[in-house]
Order: sequence, then structure tokens, then C-alpha cells
Amino acid sequence: MAKTGLLAPLFALVAALAITTVSSEALADDKCRRVEFKTVAVKEACEKGLKAAKDQMKAFMKKAKIKNCQVCHSSLAPEYKLKPDGLKKYTDAGGK
Ligand code: HEC
Repeated sequence: MAKTGLLAPLFALVAALAITTVSSEALADDKCRRVEFKTVAVKEACEKGLKAAKDQMKAFMKKAKIKNCQVCHSSLAPEYKLKPDGLKKYTDAGGK
């Protein structure tokens, strides 16, 4: 049966595609919400993912001696909304 011989690899391909789609949807949670960035550091971190952005924020806070995310953010996950002066606080503290 020449037909089955052709179909088997095709099924394998479809299955592989289905798996790829599912896993990239699962990863969507690990992305930053922002599409426009006002800072270089967060933009670069977000290109790697949300976890990298959080790590970047934490490292920055350590350097700037800020103890609380809410100093700049009015909400955390999933939106990470900034307070009106959140960006200013970030740049004043030396953030880029
Ligand atoms: C000194 C102010 C400041 C503090 C403190 C701060 N952030 Fe941020 N954060 C910012 C600014 C400003 C941005 C947006 C950067 C931009 O627009 O490029 C941001 C963006 C983010 C983002 C990207 C969100 C997205 O989905 O686009 C995450 C995640 C984040 N902060 C997490 C945290 C966490 C977690 C903490 C506490 C550990 C924290 N931040 C503390 C200023 C701060």
C-alpha cells in the first residue's frame, strides 16, 4: 500500500504541529503584557519573557534599595500597572 506509506509521515507532521501549537499557547502566560516600553532594561528582559522581567525588576530594586514593588506599581500580576509616577521613580533611581 503505497498510500499508507505516504500518510504515516503526514500524520506525524500534523501531530507534531498540534503539539507545537499547544505548547506555545501555554507559554503565552510567560510574556509581558506591555507592547510599548519606555525603558530599555525592561524591554530587553521582556524579550526573554515575563520571568526575566521580574528578575530584572528585583535586581534593580536591590541596587536602588527599594523594598516594595508597589512603590511603582499600582497592581502586580497580570497587568503590572504603573502608578502615575512609577516610571519617574524608576528613572530617578537610575533605571534605564
Ligand atoms: C522603581 C520603580 C519600580 C519598582 C519598585 C518595580 N517596578 Fe516593575 N516596572 C517599572 C516600570 C517603570 C516598568 C515599565 C517599563 C517600561 O515601560 O519599559 C515596569 C514593568 C514591570 C514588568 C513588565 C510587565 C509587563 O507585562 O509588561 C514586570 C513583570 C514588573 N515590572 C514586575 C515588577 C515586580 C515583580 C516588582 C517587585 C519585585 C517591580 N516590578 C517593582 C518600575 C518598577
